Amino acid sequence: MAYKILVLKGDGIGPEVVGEALQVLKVVARNAALDLEFKEAPVGGHALDQFGTPLPDDVLKQARASDAILLGAVGGPKWDNPKADKRPEQALLTLRKELGLFANVRPVKAVKELISASPLRPEIVNGVDLVIIRELTGGIYYGKPSERRNHGGLRAAVDTCAYSEEEIIRVLRYGFELARNRRKHLTSVDKANILATSRLWREIAGELAAEYKDVAFDNQLVDSMAMHLIRRPRDFDVIVTENMFGDILTDEASVLAGSMGLLPSASLGDELNGAGCRVGLFEPIHGSAPDIAGRDEANPLAAILSAAMLLEHSLGLRAEAEIIEQAVEAVVREGYRTRDLGAGAGTKVAGCKAMGRLVREKLESAEA
Ligand code: IPM
Ligand code: MG
Repeated sequence: MAYKILVLKGDGIGPEVVGEALQVLKVVARNAALDLEFKEAPVGGHALDQFGTPLPDDVLKQARASDAILLGAVGGPKWDNPKADKRPEQALLTLRKELGLFANVRPVKAVKELISASPLRPEIVNGVDLVIIRELTGGIYYGKPSERRNHGGLRAAVDTCAYSEEEIIRVLRYGFELARNRRKHLTSVDKANILATSRLWREIAGELAAEYKDVAFDNQLVDSMAMHLIRRPRDFDVIVTENMFGDILTDEASVLAGSMGLLPSASLGDELNGAGCRVGLFEPIHGSAPDIAGRDEANPLAAILSAAMLLEHSLGLRAEAEIIEQAVEAVVREGYRTRDLGAGAGTKVAGCKAMGRLVREKLESAEA
């Protein structure tokens, strides 16, 4: 049976990096005799220009019918007008919500050869291996009301942060299960000294911790977590947090890996998520980087590693995922660097296409 993979390249560097990831998947499929069926569809700013909506109904329908989605990035200065009522980013939010993708998994690992690419001292970064689980379908990203207001002629605006018990339980449970299969340590991040949603979050985290007695558990406030994450990142294993805190902490965490251009992500649901389908969405955490789009300078490794996560999480192909990860590591070990990884003595600067080709060459020789 063929696996249906929907490819949403999106805007900016999206098409370049996903193009490379797609070719990597094709090589793996050939080596492992997998039947992967790819279909491309427009999303984000491009879709907005062409169809007047960042996520055409038909694309959402195709997404539901897929086994997995590989996405690049959406957005760019062209669509940045704050007064516009339709924005490319809405495509992402709708996909996440409609497909019930409540758990966003963002692994952060320090690659030895790239430690010098991090602005942090090597003794802080060396050995970092953590996963941030970001709640993805609730909180202030979705709460209503969210609108501009007029208070007696003065401009005002409101957003709402809301969480239900089920939303909190399922994502924390995902985190505890993951921690069980790793170093058995879970850190729950909130702002319980201020927010009611965070106090509910902390209450539930404590209840689950009592259930997962084999997992060491602690709570952190998000502000001090922002500090601990770069002062003592090795102390963390699995970190679970709500939507917006996770958005912010994962960008910060990318500094540990050396570059945003290295961090993949998986957005997952479960059979009980009410979305009526079980599809995962895989995307690099970096944005559309319009300043370097079309210049063959983007780092395709995050997209390629996202493709590896797709194989593991949506298709259950852990071994194939590992082969891709090893190929990426080998290319880095040999000294190839896209510009974001900072070329230095003994390194070779490579563009987006060259980097993709190098990874594929490793895969091909791995087969031989
Ligand atoms: C991310 C991005 C998105 C988010 C944007 C592009 C909507 O920053 O995936 O982290 O805020 O969730
Ligand atoms: Mg973000």
